[in-house]
Amino acid sequence: MDISVRKGDLTQEKGDLLVVNEFLGVGEPGGATGAVNAALGGNLAKFMKEDHFKAKLGSAFVMRTHGKIPAKRVLVVGLGKKEEFDLEAVRQAAAASMNVAKSLGVKSVVSILHGAGMGGLKAADCAQAMVEGVRLAEYAFESYRSTKKEKPRVQRFDIVSRDGQDVRQALKGVEQGELTARGTMFARDLVNTPAGDMYPQKLVHAAKQIAAGKGTIRVRVFDRDALVRMGAGGILGVAQGSDHPPFLVHMVYKPKKATKKSVALVGKAVTFDSGGLSLKPAEGMMTMKIDMAGAAAVLGAFSVIAQVAPACEVHGIFGAVENMPSGKAIRPGDVLTAMNKKTIEVLNTDAEGRLTLADTLSYAVKQKPQAIIDLATLTGACMVALGEEITGMMSNNDALSTILLEASRGAGEKMWRLPLEKNYRKLLKSEVADMQNIGARWGGALTAGLFLEEFVDKTPWAHLDIAGPAFAEREIDPYTHKGATGHGVRTLLSYLRSL
Ligand code: BES
Ligand code: ZN
Ligand code: ZN
Repeated sequence: MDISVRKGDLTQEKGDLLVVNEFLGVGEPGGATGAVNAALGGNLAKFMKEDHFKAKLGSAFVMRTHGKIPAKRVLVVGLGKKEEFDLEAVRQAAAASMNVAKSLGVKSVVSILHGAGMGGLKAADCAQAMVEGVRLAEYAFESYRSTKKEKPRVQRFDIVSRDGQDVRQALKGVEQGELTARGTMFARDLVNTPAGDMYPQKLVHAAKQIAAGKGTIRVRVFDRDALVRMGAGGILGVAQGSDHPPFLVHMVYKPKKATKKSVALVGKAVTFDSGGLSLKPAEGMMTMKIDMAGAAAVLGAFSVIAQVAPACEVHGIFGAVENMPSGKAIRPGDVLTAMNKKTIEVLNTDAEGRLTLADTLSYAVKQKPQAIIDLATLTGACMVALGEEITGMMSNNDALSTILLEASRGAGEKMWRLPLEKNYRKLLKSEVADMQNIGARWGGALTAGLFLEEFVDKTPWAHLDIAGPAFAEREIDPYTHKGATGHGVRTLLSYLRSL
């Protein structure tokens, strides 16, 4: 499907589906929607009223135009409450229009540029959000189906505005939206792929493929022998039970004229989490192919980083392992030594993400970045605290957390800061080692965050627990269907653009 922006008058546009919009509780349609309504002899407003169409965010009203205007049908998409309107509403409205287009089986869509000039939104940002919404709504993971869905695909999605300056701005936004969506879908594909086909070596392959042919990206891969030399006891320990060997992957993006600054993006990359000898129950294991979603987000961001072109150096680091039970697996009570020489008593082999991150974060610190951001499907406890849609963020640095919260808001990825409560450090005290890998019954997301903090020294660092939002168990919003979400990519890219 092609997405374009051009100058034009919606009442004169040909196409299968013409998309306009409306705020909740507006009496008479105004602006472009008003113009289309007038061209239809006032019938649009009349029928909306008759059908009690309320214009809740993402809702849709469709009518045929019977030749009154060149477009075959008009779709009014709801923008929700005017006071709540923001970029995320733009993203969802565009996604909702795409979902209607898909279900009607139309080939071409012509849409208003939602949100330009409303509530201080910039045309470029609106166009970017629209493209993200449309592309992500269109996304489907079909590689494992023998029969593909039969509906004809939407072939064109044209965004049309009467304002020439908006069009010029929007063109730039479309470009950024395409990149963000592409990175997000790259991550979705990796996470959706069954763990039987997505083992550590495959993540290494993905990293190499991203770097191939790009002068600005290099990849270093450390295999088991190298990890032994580096003292990566956490990664090696978790990998012990699996037939798949572990790898530490280090990607570096370095622009031609790099600024002095550098940041490190670290991802949890457990390609399957059975729990190990502390085996998960069947129910809890069902979705555990998603346990590499943190690394997938880092790879997703790296897949478009050369085009997004941040000015500073960016490191992408993950320790890829599979967590399996076997005669060789680590046992509860075993003690591992992480790369920074700290010792860890493993009381529960299902708290494996922090063991791999202990090494990965230690390695990241050695690159001397100004900031480290890690993303990890780390704890069920974070889902208990914040539910399925909100990331739990913990940080040792207020400035970094403010920037990330800002980036996540614009990107439409919900995030809430949780405390690194130092009084809870005692919960990680071990009888035999420097620390143990589980806390007490309560506050599991926080003790996990405190555990990770032991491996970042004084580096400004933010930990994003994406256990909830990495995977949608149900439809979340018009562009997040069931399955992997690619959560984190949009926030990371927005953060990198701001550097
Ligand atoms: N990968 C899981 C966390 C998880 C759970 C992610 C559900 C996504 C959905 C993690 O490795 C894990 O098993 N954590 C344990 C930690 C506990 C043993 C301290 C948990 O959350 O139960
Ligand atoms: Zn686990
Ligand atoms: Zn895990």
